[in-house]
Amino acid sequence: MKKLFACLLGWVAISQVYAQPGKSISASLGKVKVQFILEDGGKPAYTVTYGAKPVINKSNLGFALADDSTFYKGFKLLSTKYDQVDESWAPVWGEVNSIRNHYQQVTVHLQQEGGKQRLLNVVFRVFEDGVGFRYEFPKQANLNYFIVTQEKTEFALASDAKAFWIPGDYDSNEYAYSTTKVSEIDNQKIVGASGDIAVRLAPDRYSVQTPLMLKSDNGLYINIHEAALRNYSSMQLHVDRSQFKLKSSLVPDAVGNMAYLHAPFHTPWRTVIVSGKAADILSSKMILNLNDPSKVENTSWIKPMKFVGVWWEMQIGKSTWSYAKSMNDVDANGKLIPSGLHGANTANVKRYIDFAARHGIPGVLVEGWNTGWEDWFGNWKEDVFDFVTPYPDFDVAALTSYARAKGVSIIMHNETSGSATNYERQLDTAYRFMNEHSYPAVKTGYVGKIIPRGEHHDGQWMVNHYARVAQKAAEHHVMLDAHEPVRPTGLQRTYPNWMASEAGRGNEYNAFSEGNLPEHETILPFTRLMGGPMDYTPGIFKLKGYTTVPNRQVHTTLAKQLALYVTMYSPLQMVADLPENYDKYPDAFQFIKDVAVDWDDTYILEAEPGDYLTIARKAKGKNEWFIGGITDEHSRTANFKLNFLPQGRTFEATIYEDGRTASFDKNPESYAVRKIKVTSKTVLQLKIAPGGGFALSIN
Ligand code: NOJ
Ligand code: CA
Repeated sequence: MKKLFACLLGWVAISQVYAQPGKSISASLGKVKVQFILEDGGKPAYTVTYGAKPVINKSNLGFALADDSTFYKGFKLLSTKYDQVDESWAPVWGEVNSIRNHYQQVTVHLQQEGGKQRLLNVVFRVFEDGVGFRYEFPKQANLNYFIVTQEKTEFALASDAKAFWIPGDYDSNEYAYSTTKVSEIDNQKIVGASGDIAVRLAPDRYSVQTPLMLKSDNGLYINIHEAALRNYSSMQLHVDRSQFKLKSSLVPDAVGNMAYLHAPFHTPWRTVIVSGKAADILSSKMILNLNDPSKVENTSWIKPMKFVGVWWEMQIGKSTWSYAKSMNDVDANGKLIPSGLHGANTANVKRYIDFAARHGIPGVLVEGWNTGWEDWFGNWKEDVFDFVTPYPDFDVAALTSYARAKGVSIIMHNETSGSATNYERQLDTAYRFMNEHSYPAVKTGYVGKIIPRGEHHDGQWMVNHYARVAQKAAEHHVMLDAHEPVRPTGLQRTYPNWMASEAGRGNEYNAFSEGNLPEHETILPFTRLMGGPMDYTPGIFKLKGYTTVPNRQVHTTLAKQLALYVTMYSPLQMVADLPENYDKYPDAFQFIKDVAVDWDDTYILEAEPGDYLTIARKAKGKNEWFIGGITDEHSRTANFKLNFLPQGRTFEATIYEDGRTASFDKNPESYAVRKIKVTSKTVLQLKIAPGGGFALSIN
């Protein structure tokens, strides 16, 4: 009785202090509505609805700080502020040439009662296609330098949605997707094995990474991610399986803290994109809109491009990155003895330059050109690579003039083998070297454990590292393609020279593991690519028998590899296979030569995550359109209209499609090419083989 009385008293006292009777704090645009609630106990919370349908049920907000584990309760409302914006902006490059930024915003100003009286704001930005919200720690007397030990943001789903997920992991996102109900998410039951090196699963068995794609029981497509991840650690999600509740789980640093901050500070945006149509998820520009405009003022040197590379031949074991068999293979003078297998030798690089020049492909990536590859991985040594010292058989000066004479650019490779601090020390030297030799772009890499401190790939320190690299590259007018970084969050708007990242399971897994499932590329645009372009390295034509490992194959048809140039958007797009494999199929290769890498407009014609995708795009500044369509392991008939074409004109369409007997497993290299006349009234029905696809060019 005494206990009950005390309880009631407590409740009365709390509700008098914190409840805001009759006061609804909300913002909405179109069907999307966010509501802020200050719960009993002064706990901030929010809900999201889409029309009459719940998207996110009441979910809590807040933090645990190193000096205050209760920075999620005991708040009172000081004030609210409403804003709205409707403007358009032009990206330097992209899927469209103009982006509308239209939102309603409400900022909730909170103060914790008692103790240090600290201030915290929550900003909600509501778009027609979703909600972004972030926390602001205003400048204040009692909060200066501080440490976040936990972020307590929740996303309480309204139903046991179908989820397309990869497991929580602080150092790798190179996983196959599992598709299960949220209640069945379990990292010990993931699809396939990562096959990657130095993967360290998050200690949490029930955690997933974002972008997380969901399809709810009430017919909504929901994507949860973050935007503008800067000076903070990446957000993974712990899954409370019984309540379908997702809880922010930040990636720790080497000693277990989540973020070291200094007020004033704002966190990245937490994003919830929602629609009744899957296609709308893919056309959402919310994440880009939530990022800051370009910090690079002169962007005229930033040029989307295709490139071939001395690369796949190493992936499939035909040649090596290293010059000698091992670092112990030295002659009497201590010099490495060449193994005869080194891929980045002058003659071979010239062969790729010739091929690129012959086919109008602007770039040639060269990996394994610099010393260190005999002992590059797993040795935890900081100074393996110096990014300026070539192997004796790679003639920098000769290749620079050869490439220049042929109108082709060499793309630099800077593998750091996880030694990020070592790389930072050498950035200026490395990029000056690129400037001297007219290399317009760099592909970075972070294979293995991050040394020296054991930070995680997705923690705050590395998040800052990738941005420092992008900034430094911008100063030197170098375009950037980062491999093994944290997954993107739209920062390509702020650093338009950071054009692509890997940050996911690319085509390369078909070389060194059992490979990617046929559905993989139908999921990636809804997950990994929501944050930004992926260097997926499409365009493999020899789909079987490319390695000595028995039964290894790429799980797509050749026509599907063509389609990926449209469905997997990237302004740096690799033409990944060997020249000799392209030479065998010149009519199919024509599509890769023709396809654009920068676009005026994009039309998502058909889409269902995990099943199929048809996307059309208009080349920037040209009356040329390209369409890519793909399916999973099931055959299907794509059915779409060309009503995006200008009316009243007839165009020629070249159709690259699966051969009649094609299938990814039995007959992947069978394809057909035909030409037809089309207009804006044309409706196309194209048969796609199991694991297949099609590509169209129209002009
Ligand atoms: C992994 C990257 O994804 C791949 O593209 C690169 O060739 C190797 N690391 C070596 O750096
Ligand atoms: Ca990789």
